[in-house]
Amino acid sequence: MTISELKQIFKKELSAIYSESESTELYSIFCSTILGLDKFQQRQSSERIITQNECENFKKIIGELKTGKPFQQILGETEFYGLQFFVDKNVLIPRPETEELLELAISEIKKLELNHSVFKILDIGTGSGIIPVVLKKHFPDAIVSAIDYSEKALETAKKNANFHHVEINFIHQDYLNENLSEVYDIIISNPPYIGIEEETEIANSVKEFEPKMALFSPTSNALIFYEKIAEDCKIHLSEKGMVFLEINQKLGEETKDLFSEVLSEVHLVKDLSGNDRFVFGKK
Ligand SMILES: C[S@@+](CC[C@H](N)C(=O)[O-])C[C@H]1O[C@@H](n2cnc3c(N)ncnc32)[C@H](O)[C@@H]1O
Repeated sequence: MTISELKQIFKKELSAIYSESESTELYSIFCSTILGLDKFQQRQSSERIITQNECENFKKIIGELKTGKPFQQILGETEFYGLQFFVDKNVLIPRPETEELLELAISEIKKLELNHSVFKILDIGTGSGIIPVVLKKHFPDAIVSAIDYSEKALETAKKNANFHHVEINFIHQDYLNENLSEVYDIIISNPPYIGIEEETEIANSVKEFEPKMALFSPTSNALIFYEKIAEDCKIHLSEKGMVFLEINQKLGEETKDLFSEVLSEVHLVKDLSGNDRFVFGKK
């Protein structure tokens, strides 16, 4: 079978669940990993014959993709903020909105004037560890800690920190039911923020393949993590310290209000799609 024939079969097999452009992109991604060909080479080698082994690999991947499994989990890795991260079934696949959160946080932290030079950062609900790894890369002198309740997620996060040669203090903790022990200059979080009643709006592939603990609030109160973070800002955020949060787009004003009580300035920011997506502020 030639590469161009393979492409036709790949796209036909996935046509029931993926659009034309999605299956073209997926084909290109797996062509690059299995055959080692970039997009240009794929076009140039359309008549190349693929081996039996390569064909078997494609068959396996088509089968997995047909189940709705995210391609990042099949690959075992993804790109985030220009860096490579390992992902698996125990962690949320990083979303582009979280890149926006980090972009915002990095530019604001650069402007921050603290009385001490070494500042402490805490990420709550770290998942694959993308947030602390990117922050430590940008602020190598900062002391960066990250909490998660999932031991398996922490294993993946540690693997990512080791891969990027950054030192992060990972803490296994049920944030909602345990107390913080330190004072931080930066608190950042993308906690589970989907309310139980919103579950029907979430794609089956997300619900089936990504950890429920990463997606859904554990109670009917979708703001439960934000309420605890706002409370923690009173004692565990330093003077002039900053908070950066990714939020449920339907609860922008409510989330902002929680922090207006504890911070001297609070901002509600939209994401690139125009949805209320971030709350940040300064004590
Ligand atoms: C929305 S995911 C965010 C993951 C990662 N920070 C990201 O942005 O891709 C939320 C994370 O919070 C963790 N989590 C859920 N409940 C928690 C709790 N009670 N205490 C600490 N972490 C929790 C989940 O395991 C998950 O990794």
